[in-house]
Amino acid sequence: MIILKTPEEIEVMAKASKLVAETLQFLKPRIRPGVVTDELDRLAEEFIRTRGGKPAFKGYRSYPKTLCISVNDQVVHGIPSKRTLKEGDIVGLDLGAIVEGFYGDAAMTVPVGTIDAKAAELLRVTEAALYAGIEQAVVGNRLSDISHAVQERAESAGFSVVTDFVGHGIGRQLHEEPQVPNYGKPGQGPRLQVGMVLAIEPMVNMGKSEVRVLDDQWTAVTKDGSLSAHFEHTIAIQPSGPPRILSKL
Ligand code: MF3
Ligand code: CO
Repeated sequence: MIILKTPEEIEVMAKASKLVAETLQFLKPRIRPGVVTDELDRLAEEFIRTRGGKPAFKGYRSYPKTLCISVNDQVVHGIPSKRTLKEGDIVGLDLGAIVEGFYGDAAMTVPVGTIDAKAAELLRVTEAALYAGIEQAVVGNRLSDISHAVQERAESAGFSVVTDFVGHGIGRQLHEEPQVPNYGKPGQGPRLQVGMVLAIEPMVNMGKSEVRVLDDQWTAVTKDGSLSAHFEHTIAIQPSGPPRILSKL
């Protein structure tokens, strides 16, 4: 069952999502060669708690940290550690926060210093795929119109979408129905309605789409070792026109 949110509930979700966005913006200039990923995690947790929020991922299915930090061939769910970022890396930061019982969720992938042109293209295309999906999140469309647009944008650039992980409804829980795949035929699934709040989150690989999970039980990496990028926004379907991007400042 898809739980529709009232306008009042959406305002609370906007607060949670804004806090996520502010935290990511705070972290962005701190992503430089030499920084340790655990330090970014510590900063994120402090930033969120200082502003009255709670980290959403910490403790979720025993996940140990506030952020997911996924470097290079890591697709999603990389665990912050003593790893040091180096020039040329690409780094996915995925973050959730809880405010007044509601979740917000967003992710971005950023360069560390100067990266090569192909990696930069992967970042641009993955973010563009997210926005292509968001553009389809309008009343009257069906859920898979989002999925199809994401896939089309990524594959037309010669990249592949990850199918083992999907976006999701979000509300009083981090993961609610419906699942929001990053692939599929258009015109399928439930019709989009006012009150739906979705986390759309394409994961795009430079090479093949297959992923595997490391022995830590969390970190997903590309099987072929190719680079991967991830962008995510929490959005609310509007009565007409494009969705409200709750996790955008
Ligand atoms: N954005 C991811 C998701 O919605 C992050 C979840 S990490 C976890 O699935 F630790 F909470 F699982
Ligand atoms: Co998510």
